[in-house]
Amino acid sequence: MSNNAEKRDILVTSALPYATAPLHLGHILEHTQTDIWVRYQRLIGNNCTYVCADDAHGTPIMLKAEELNKEPEDLIEEIYANHVNTFNLYNINHDNFHTTHSEENRTLSERIFNALNEKGLIEIRTIEQLYDTSRNMFLSDRYVKGSCPKCFAEDQYGDNCEVCSATYDAIELIDPFSVLSNTSPVIKESEHLFFKLSELKQEIVEWLKNSKIQNPVQNKLSEWLDEDLKDWDISRDSPYFGFEIPGHKDKFFYVWLDAPIGYLASHINYLNKQNSNEFEKFWNPDSNSEIYHFIGKDIMYFHTLFFPVMLSNANFKKPSGVFVHGFLTLDGEKMSKSRGNFISADDFVSVLDPEYLRYYFASKLSTGVDDIDLNLEDLKQKVNADLVNKLVNIASRSANFLNKHFKNTLAKEVEDLDLINDFVHKSEDIFHHYENLELNKAMREIMSLADKANQYIDKMEPWKLIKDEKNLELVHQICSTSLNLYRILMIMIEPVTPKLAEKSFTFLNEKPSWKCIKKPLLGHKINKFKPLLTRIEDEQINQLVELKNV
Ligand code: 2FM
Ligand code: ZN
Repeated sequence: MSNNAEKRDILVTSALPYATAPLHLGHILEHTQTDIWVRYQRLIGNNCTYVCADDAHGTPIMLKAEELNKEPEDLIEEIYANHVNTFNLYNINHDNFHTTHSEENRTLSERIFNALNEKGLIEIRTIEQLYDTSRNMFLSDRYVKGSCPKCFAEDQYGDNCEVCSATYDAIELIDPFSVLSNTSPVIKESEHLFFKLSELKQEIVEWLKNSKIQNPVQNKLSEWLDEDLKDWDISRDSPYFGFEIPGHKDKFFYVWLDAPIGYLASHINYLNKQNSNEFEKFWNPDSNSEIYHFIGKDIMYFHTLFFPVMLSNANFKKPSGVFVHGFLTLDGEKMSKSRGNFISADDFVSVLDPEYLRYYFASKLSTGVDDIDLNLEDLKQKVNADLVNKLVNIASRSANFLNKHFKNTLAKEVEDLDLINDFVHKSEDIFHHYENLELNKAMREIMSLADKANQYIDKMEPWKLIKDEKNLELVHQICSTSLNLYRILMIMIEPVTPKLAEKSFTFLNEKPSWKCIKKPLLGHKINKFKPLLTRIEDEQINQLVELKNV
């Protein structure tokens, strides 16, 4: 964005974590990617709002509360406090973190449902489902098991067979049993409400063409769109923890209906707190605002097929893009508590500075949807080599001289202005990589510039020059050059390591904005240098490895 370009109005979201359990490192991956992009947008001067919420409805939450002998409302409140705390520890800068169990969300869900209904896009149909007579509830696919109707493999869930990959309806299972009570369920009829997605395929195809979605995701979606789309069952029977559907007693909105509406609910809750009435203007179908959702590849279906046309047919703006990332694996394996390959977000941060993880994730994230591996040994090596030995080293090497010989004041002229200008010039590429979510490329460029800055100091050998009194001014200018290079690098890496940048700017005695990147700091008093980062020690990696098995 050039200095006089119009500010963009952007709303950004990360997927809403379920209010059933504390956060894991996969959540942190997604929120870090989003947070970096949001910080970058703000850095270059755009209006960028970042909202999220807990996804508080559904059967698993209801059952978990029951198991803990709590009301679901109490459980989701406890988890909410825990989630907010964890996100703060990782410096995830949401403007608002709300909950889907809120009045704003109820009102918006009803409004969207009513609008779809008035447009004839909701249909009532009678369906057959398995019913647990001892628990008095219908069983969704994950709560029923039996033998596969195709290959007869035992102990398969109600939607698909892990042995032969067949997909089927739960009522087709042979000898089904309820996972909740171990009893045999009966088949029972019930009226459900369907959103007529099958009629909206053309609109989805058009939206996909005109929105920012990575190619591999586009390809997957095209595959889905080659087939007919099925209408979507948006209701669930009582007992259910959620919102009752207006005019349909004992029927509740399926959690996946009100979850994405939670993005809007969090936004309006935020705006209300700011006394702003910009909500309708922002979400108007013709508004110039931009809306982006960051999600994992497992929930593409909901965000790209159901949600956009739900919004547009209720007269809201459709998303401008959806950014999809792969899953996080830990030391090469799927993260799994039961297999002892799992670290909770809270545990991780009790051992290591979260900025290390933010940098590590940034160095691996791109626009691809392949899984991302957190390898603990690699994390240690990367952080020590890049952040400690390369980046922060530039500051400490320069600061020592400025501290000892030049009263912590930068020279009035630098020794190599061309090199500084070269860094400024490269910042354009780096910002371009941020914009395009090629965070790995941005980090690679920044580290190669850090190499250049170190090579410059090595070449100039100020420690030799200083031995001769007549070189004093030259050394002053050399250190002022390298510290200016460090300053540019810090401006560029700030979205990834905001705390390190903050400490560095305190040291530089300046709060630079992206705009002042072009103007070097000259004749400026800096503060006394304090160590900015410490190395990751083997001991810390051992502690993390132990935590995996807790
Ligand atoms: O998959 C999940 O973790 C869901 N809780 C994400 C919901 S995102 C949005 F649609 F609300
Ligand atoms: Zn099978």
